[in-house]
Amino acid sequence: MTPISPQDNALYERLKEVIEETKSMRNPLIEVLRQAQDIFGYLPIEVQEFIAQEMNIPANKIYGVITFYNFFTMKPRGKYTINLCMGTACYVKGAPRLAQMMEEELGVKIGETTPDGKFTLSAVRCVGACSLAPVFVIGEDTYGRVDTRDKMSAILKRYE
Ligand code: FES
Repeated sequence: MTPISPQDNALYERLKEVIEETKSMRNPLIEVLRQAQDIFGYLPIEVQEFIAQEMNIPANKIYGVITFYNFFTMKPRGKYTINLCMGTACYVKGAPRLAQMMEEELGVKIGETTPDGKFTLSAVRCVGACSLAPVFVIGEDTYGRVDTRDKMSAILKRYE
């Protein structure tokens, strides 16, 4: 395991608490991984090894779960994650074009993080706002009918 800084230590302490709190669940691994990703921002190998040790689960099983579900990531995320909806309604209403505009604007592909660490661009399934298609979500904010580059740029500027 890689050495941990004092700040990381507090994060690992929090993760230990999560593992303790979820002990009574029937299958706590997904919940532990979800909360670990919230705590660390992503799930690097050293966090996976820590969970494996604490939960007495083989590390390769944890790795398998993380790579199976696309909401888990082993790469550091940006400060903001842009979740672009690729559900059917959004797809029909121009999500692929919006995705292309986003990629050009940010200079990264879907699944990547901007070099300044600000944005991670991610594609998701229906977020339940189909009447506003095409839609993307940043944090708690849902943006709909984003059909021009100007509209999209103006929204992203709010996060700068
Ligand atoms: S398909 Fe995009 S919100 Fe439902």
